[in-house]
Amino acid sequence: MVKAVVAGAAGGIGQPLSLLLKLSPYVDELALYDVVNSPGVAADLSHISTTGPVKGYLAKDEAGLKGALTGADIVVIPAGIPRKPGMTRDDLFKINAGIVQNIIEGIAQYAPKAFILIISNPVNSTVPIAAEVLKKHNVFDPKRLFGVTTLDSVRADTFTAEVSSIKDPKSVHVPVVGGHSGETIVPLLSLTTPNVSIQGETRDKLVNRIQFGGDEVVKAKDGAGSATLSMAYAGFLFAEAVLKGAKGEAATAAAYIHLDGVTGGSEIKQKVGVDYFAVPVTFGPEGAVKAENILTKANEYEQQLLKVAIDGLKGNISKGVDFVANPP
Ligand code: NAD
Ligand code: LMR
Repeated sequence: MVKAVVAGAAGGIGQPLSLLLKLSPYVDELALYDVVNSPGVAADLSHISTTGPVKGYLAKDEAGLKGALTGADIVVIPAGIPRKPGMTRDDLFKINAGIVQNIIEGIAQYAPKAFILIISNPVNSTVPIAAEVLKKHNVFDPKRLFGVTTLDSVRADTFTAEVSSIKDPKSVHVPVVGGHSGETIVPLLSLTTPNVSIQGETRDKLVNRIQFGGDEVVKAKDGAGSATLSMAYAGFLFAEAVLKGAKGEAATAAAYIHLDGVTGGSEIKQKVGVDYFAVPVTFGPEGAVKAENILTKANEYEQQLLKVAIDGLKGNISKGVDFVANPP
């Protein structure tokens, strides 16, 4: 029996993501946690004729976080504020860092073995925050903590199919590594399957669109938030990959992970020189069982992109670590 929790379930991502999880054969029970409206969303979803109960929990209620998290196998976290035009993801740190810290404190206490999937931005920093909180409670397992970067992969496949006139974006796979913001997002177009040949200005524009795809949505929504529906889809794909792996089925996806403690991770860490990096991950019953080092296969142009990404990540990671070590 798999219990899935969505923390931030009443939000723009939380609601459609909860709907998709309610439809998933890999989820037997759903707990929806938020500071507002989670019982309403739960009541709504509970009328859907798929098996498994759905229960809503409010932060202010007695059961609250403890009730939602107890017995959880997987916790997906899209809690926190989204960007408005003109903001960077890092501008969200001030508010979202504390929100993520609080939810992770709960996980450390009530569901220390759960798989933790962090969507809340800035992912490059919120994942290190989560790791530091879990370390403080002696329950950190790098194999079970993931920053969700699947939307970058989804965008890369879609946009690459577009410029290559490939009809079905699902038939294209572009590995995307690094982090989840602007130039820390590195699509490795040279390793696309099937092989595509995109060069010069077309390639530069495509890389830029993948790196800044989030801005496209923020601008189009014009103050009403950032990507929610495509993110719910991406978050669902990632959650199902983790749950498939947990059941012993073959599953891989890119994820932003702490490289220590995952097979193949230390080799990647030697190359990138940072603790956290998004790389292709294979899932198994314990979570991330293998991190694939595809970085050495990247071409010269992509090696330059990787350098810029690593520089950006260094600051983002230390900001998250410092937040827990020296609370503001
Ligand atoms: P939203 O404002 O629509 O929803 C956020 C939800 O979080 C709200 O329901 C809010 O009540 C809830 N919340 C706030 N504080 C909480 C707390 N302490 N505990 C529990 N719930 C709390 O925002 P959204 O559009 O759903 O985006 C959520 C987050 O996801 C943002 O930080 C956004 O930047 C991020 N995001 C990440 C990706 C990614 O690829 N990783 C993609 C899109 C958005
Ligand atoms: C995205 O990539 O769409 C998200 O990180 C949300 C954002 O702020 O762009």
